[in-house]
Amino acid sequence: MFRDPAFMGNRRVPIHRWVPWIAGFSGQFIQDAFREFLPRQSKLRRPLVLDPFAGVGTTLVEALLHGHDAIGFEINPYASLAARVKLSVTEIAPAKIAELIQVIRQESKPWRDHHQLNLKRYRPSEFVSRIPFFSERIEPQILNILRLLDTYSPREVADLGRVALGAVLVGVSNYSYEPSLSSRPGAGKPLLEDADVASIVIAKLEEILADVRWLHVHQKDIGNERREVYTKNFLAVNGELPSGSVDLMITSPPYMNNYHYIRNTRPHLFWLSLVTSPRELHRLEEDNFGKFWQTVRNADPISLTCEHHGLKTLVAELREIRTDAGAYGGEGWANYVTTYFNDCNRFAQILRRVLRRGGAGVVVIGNSIIQGLNIATDRILADIAETNGLRLERIVPLRKKRVGASITKSSVRRGLQSLGSLYESAVILRKR
Ligand SMILES: C[S@@+](CC[C@H](N)C(=O)[O-])C[C@H]1O[C@@H](n2cnc3c(N)ncnc32)[C@H](O)[C@@H]1O
Repeated sequence: MFRDPAFMGNRRVPIHRWVPWIAGFSGQFIQDAFREFLPRQSKLRRPLVLDPFAGVGTTLVEALLHGHDAIGFEINPYASLAARVKLSVTEIAPAKIAELIQVIRQESKPWRDHHQLNLKRYRPSEFVSRIPFFSERIEPQILNILRLLDTYSPREVADLGRVALGAVLVGVSNYSYEPSLSSRPGAGKPLLEDADVASIVIAKLEEILADVRWLHVHQKDIGNERREVYTKNFLAVNGELPSGSVDLMITSPPYMNNYHYIRNTRPHLFWLSLVTSPRELHRLEEDNFGKFWQTVRNADPISLTCEHHGLKTLVAELREIRTDAGAYGGEGWANYVTTYFNDCNRFAQILRRVLRRGGAGVVVIGNSIIQGLNIATDRILADIAETNGLRLERIVPLRKKRVGASITKSSVRRGLQSLGSLYESAVILRKR
């Protein structure tokens, strides 16, 4: 049913390739889902496609390219900026992007040689890192480009520039993704002393420009009306989505592997001024789907809000593991698992409300191995959805072995031998 279940295709496809995002979908997967679940399109009404955990907008971009209305929610302001910019792509004239490239090319000539002192205000004062995030030769170049983009108009083109900078930001820093953000020395790599930042950003903008030109030539008449990305917690949705308004939901919520999207994008969030204080970051962590182990491990035992016998037994079993380790043992992880499935419950309730009758939901999700217990997240989510009145159509296995398994190593695992493997599947739900 689905091609490219390993989600590799996006790295080469126009528009999708702009911003790397861990666990991103591929455009092809979404196209297959459209074909399967939006088979008879009414000529009178455009279908509305929803991605409640939109990431950098793969579902939404495909909806746009197919002329469907698209609405997304994304809590991370950097990802939602990227998704929004991609959706505005038909509105931006290629000449405007070429102009920005030209301005950067001209203005950047002295950036590597002169230290301009009036740039301090572009440095995020509350951003901290264990080692200097940028080397002495790179940081002034970053500040210069931020200054240029800050005053650049039109705003949409400046935002495109910020997305291009965001896409290359970690690549010119002393950090790298392993897949979590780590210092380069910590990952056995040398510090990055120097780089020509303007040229790297220009190369990214040229890729973007080529894609925008491609789009203007090949898809003149897109004709959809609604394309919105809300920088918002989907579990707090209200007026944005009337009941029964969504024809198809395709999404991949954060997996229960404690991958910390917020911490891992701290550089983008701070340097692009999308957050200014750790307090804001903390609020995002609190609202993140499933929260994080770090956020809930010390809380009093959290109770399940859904009735699920197997899950209840599993959480009880988890609480008994390594009781001597306190929050670092089963107790802490049981709180994390409980919070995660409580959010699944809330998600299923909202999904049931917003889907139209007969509408489908495709949820891509992976299993988890926590403290040595193999947890079939897909099955449990399907059960929870059924308890909330949705019908489970089927669970489609996507891949048996996931990249990013290292995320679940260390503290999530318990170092046991026979843990089973990590897989991913698509849970297909229907509103009756
Ligand atoms: C697996 S990623 C989705 C990637 C997406 N399919 C793509 O191709 O870019 C999950 C996303 O959910 C977002 N997220 C987490 N909690 C959220 C919430 N409460 N509301 C909306 N988005 C949330 C995360 O920031 C992350 O970008």
